[in-house]
Amino acid sequence: MVYAFVTYLDNLYNPMTSMMDNLSDFQDGIVSGSRVMALMADETAAPQQSPVAGRTVTAGKIEFQHVSFSYDGETPILKDVSFVAKPGQTVALVGETGSGKTSIINVLMRFYEFQSGRVLIDDQDIRTYSMAELRRKFGLVLQEPFLFYGTVASNIRMFDQKISDRQVRAAAKFVSADKMIEALPRGYDSRVVERGSGYSSGQRQLISFARTVVTDPKVLILDEATANIDTETEQTIQTSLAKLQAGRTTIAVAHRLSTIQNADLILVLSRGQIIERGTNDELMAQRGTYYDMIQLQNSAHLD
Ligand SMILES: Nc1ncnc2c1ncn2[C@@H]1O[C@H](COP(=O)(O)OP(=O)(O)OP(=O)(O)O)[C@@H](O)[C@H]1O
Ligand SMILES: [Mg+2]
Repeated sequence: MVYAFVTYLDNLYNPMTSMMDNLSDFQDGIVSGSRVMALMADETAAPQQSPVAGRTVTAGKIEFQHVSFSYDGETPILKDVSFVAKPGQTVALVGETGSGKTSIINVLMRFYEFQSGRVLIDDQDIRTYSMAELRRKFGLVLQEPFLFYGTVASNIRMFDQKISDRQVRAAAKFVSADKMIEALPRGYDSRVVERGSGYSSGQRQLISFARTVVTDPKVLILDEATANIDTETEQTIQTSLAKLQAGRTTIAVAHRLSTIQNADLILVLSRGQIIERGTNDELMAQRGTYYDMIQLQNSAHLD
């Protein structure tokens, strides 16, 4: 009887202890959950569009007028940035790391609110376009393309069921990603795990190009990857990019200066300011910062 009693006692206490143990986990969960909810509900940092924003982007002209921007409201990141990208033109942004290239894109995409100046799309304030319209018409290719859990095809159509298989294939073909995808064991149905591990950075780039072109954006925004890609993939990527840019206004951040020599306008940034502007030939003739950068890259190639 004593033995049974002790055993029962154990049976009674063990579940209670484990309940108490788990209770603290549960509490942690509740607290974290409420913080996540509070963050998601917070509208203060989100850029606001005008309540009657309903314009559509037609030509794809982009203009920055004396734009100044800071992430925290204190440290100025962009100072008095002005430039115009006419419809169909390519504007390239170059400059040392941390000079504000990605920040210009963040402002243009309305990921962050800028403090002063004006950003005009087709000569109208960017705030008069809805976020949905901007997202639809601005095709963004990021420095590090992100692949989501799913298949290659679902990553191209980005879960938009209105996009047919045929369109997915056409987009892949357009950016010359079709050969690479068809070489995969299950082609377009190949599995992709979170972040796309198992795919090389070149493959991820090509898939993200196809993803961008499938929605046929008016404006193309490229943040070039610094990652090293083999020469063959690099060639494919360059031809794909050239096709992507045709007929679209393009804002391109470039690290390899060889890729932007045909740009209509090159902006050289330093500490958030445009210090030089012009075409490749004009900037080379000036023998300024851009000239030095080209010399530096050329000598690096020779090593
Ligand atoms: N989310 C952020 N919050 C606060 N500061 C930021 C944020 N992103 C960038 N910065 C700061 O803004 C400055 C410009 O950064 P940005 O990312 O625009 O540089 P970049 O020219 O794109 O550089 P890279 O060539 O390395 O991509 C840097 O000093 C950076 O520390
Ligand atoms: Mg950047």
